[in-house]
Amino acid sequence: MKKNIGILTSGGDCQGLNAAIRGVGKAAQDEFGMSVTGFCDGFRGLVLNKTMELDNALLSGILTRGGTILGTSRDKPHKMPMGGKSLDMVDTIVETYEKNRLDALVCIGGGGTQKNALRLKNAGLNILTLPKTIDNDIFGTDVSFGFDTAVGIATEAIDRLHSTAMSHNRIIVVEIMGHRAGWLALAAGIAGGADVVLIPEIPYDVDKVTESIKERTSAGKQFSIIAVAEGAMSVEQAAYVTALADKKKTANTAEEKKAASQALKDFHADHVNSTLRLTRQLEETTGQESRLTILGHLQRGGSPSATDRVLATRLGTACARLINEGETGVLVAARGDGVEPMPLEAIAGKKKLVQLDHPWVSCARRVGTSFGD
Ligand code: F6P
Repeated sequence: MKKNIGILTSGGDCQGLNAAIRGVGKAAQDEFGMSVTGFCDGFRGLVLNKTMELDNALLSGILTRGGTILGTSRDKPHKMPMGGKSLDMVDTIVETYEKNRLDALVCIGGGGTQKNALRLKNAGLNILTLPKTIDNDIFGTDVSFGFDTAVGIATEAIDRLHSTAMSHNRIIVVEIMGHRAGWLALAAGIAGGADVVLIPEIPYDVDKVTESIKERTSAGKQFSIIAVAEGAMSVEQAAYVTALADKKKTANTAEEKKAASQALKDFHADHVNSTLRLTRQLEETTGQESRLTILGHLQRGGSPSATDRVLATRLGTACARLINEGETGVLVAARGDGVEPMPLEAIAGKKKLVQLDHPWVSCARRVGTSFGD
């Protein structure tokens, strides 16, 4: 019997989402004879039954396009903002799934989406997920699409900052996205030859950063590029975050827990000010003029790189094959040149962080990059 499948994109957008939608959709229709329905604006589209028929005409010409033709949102099935309230809409989503006679639903998303997908799986739905994010922090997959393109954009930015930093004998601090993980700053820092790379996994000491800039000056290099992950923390900030996380874990009352959780959120949301403070601090400690560049959402925009197009197409078409074989409840993870279906229970709620002995960290150290530690 002909299978019906649904697709949605959820969480922050990134490059390669349309390539993945196309990969799933074309393989599902053309190879396996399925019909494919798109749900708009993330999980909200499932609540409102807001759909798009993803026929071949719609899937044509989207491979190279940035963003997502389906739209996206950060709405969660169990905490959906509805008319000023936050409501549990899981039952409504189950009804929509049944109304559309779906055999499987593909959720293309990042870390949050994996958790939401598991919730829907536990509500009885056949769910598969595809790993997308520029942050590269999804547990269980070698890599996620969006990452390669964002590394390219951040690297080009570092390249361009070099000539202006050099002309003015300045320090230029460049803040790079990545949420709580340092993958993007680390990869772009290596590729762009940043002199200092600061990532959340390696808390930094401002004195050590200053020292490494002064060493460059002594060696006749009058400028420095500092690549700072948005989640980077000084040793003192890391201690503050650990204390708050402990407080959250050991809180005696719901209020205490809520307060610790809010303080943590506020701290992480303040990254731009924190990076600005670091820039000013370095100007003081080194006596060298300093400037700050925040790359922000530029890193998520525009056309995907060739590598991301290939990855999204590989994972998308493999996803359609898995559905045809009756396999669900999994993340379609990239493993080497192949794919590996990973049970959602094994990956949801976990984060892939940069390990201190990761080869990228050691190779950066070997070419003289400072991590401020
Ligand atoms: O997860 C992708 C990401 O771009 C992170 O790097 C960043 O912290 C976050 O999304 C920004 O989210 P928003 O687009 O909602 O501001």
